[in-house]
Amino acid sequence: MRMRRIRENKVLRQMTKETSLEISDFIYPLFVVEGEGIKKEIPSMPDCYHFSLDKLEDEINEIVDLGIKAVILFGIPNKKDDHGSEAYAEDGIIQKAVRKIKEINKDLLVITDVCMCEYTDHGHCGILDHEGHVLNDETVSYIAKIALSHAKAGADIIAPSDMMDFRIKAIRKILDENNFKNIPIMAYSAKYASNFYGPFRDAADSAPSFGDRKSYQMDYHNSNEAMREIDLDLEEDADFIIVKPALSFLDIIQRTKDNFNTNIVAYNVSGEYSMVKNAIKMGLVNEEIIYEILISIKRAGAKLIITYHAKEMAKKLRGEK
Ligand code: PBG
Repeated sequence: MRMRRIRENKVLRQMTKETSLEISDFIYPLFVVEGEGIKKEIPSMPDCYHFSLDKLEDEINEIVDLGIKAVILFGIPNKKDDHGSEAYAEDGIIQKAVRKIKEINKDLLVITDVCMCEYTDHGHCGILDHEGHVLNDETVSYIAKIALSHAKAGADIIAPSDMMDFRIKAIRKILDENNFKNIPIMAYSAKYASNFYGPFRDAADSAPSFGDRKSYQMDYHNSNEAMREIDLDLEEDADFIIVKPALSFLDIIQRTKDNFNTNIVAYNVSGEYSMVKNAIKMGLVNEEIIYEILISIKRAGAKLIITYHAKEMAKKLRGEK
């Protein structure tokens, strides 16, 4: 057997290609802030911006014109407190942003990240006891309340990223009880305590003021544990499963694919994004590396990819770049 026969020319390579990317595979993250007239590049994340609501229109129109079908929202509130009250406020930044986006284009699918770290003054993803430990069950009741407020604002999918136990069950229950039976939950099930979130924490002003997130996010030495997390979230009725980060965790994506019949989403996180963008800027690698990376995530088994590269990749796939 000569393996090179099938690589001989472009048509043959096209015919034997096992993996491809479509614009509808991408979910594009957006950062929204309070204030007016703000479209400000995020220093740690080249080509990503903070938007105030009045500046969203052009951006949303561009996203839709590019063929991108879904966004995931992150909000930076003006005021923070120990229980993250702006996260579930009716006029909180996310709630306002969802309504605004739906006003601009009701067909763009809006996913909301449900977490407390951007909203708490201590920067942890939940309610603390007096020793600074994140309390699980108390936090879950807040997480459910935040999820409901997002659904009421018009979110299409709820994506809890806090990693508390039983939060999927609690969110499903509160949504069902309030006539939101058809809103899916996209669970960050295998979310690792990762160094790759650095640029995001600058962007979202969400770094913990003390300690780390290792008592709730997963230990990256572990793979079996991720399977257990996913199993539990599916039992609690999660509709989508997120593996996060993506690149150092392709084995986890593949194992999830092999073991579960579910919708797998990979989160190509901020650190992965900024490393690549800076390496391209420095001329160390060429832009094609972005496509190669996203293909590798799909090849591993992801169906959807949350990625800051979505816009530039959409342009490439349409042949504009
Ligand atoms: C909130 C949240 C984080 C990210 C998504 N949701 C940060 C964290 O857990 O510290 C990271 C996303 C990225 O790095 O792109 N909990």
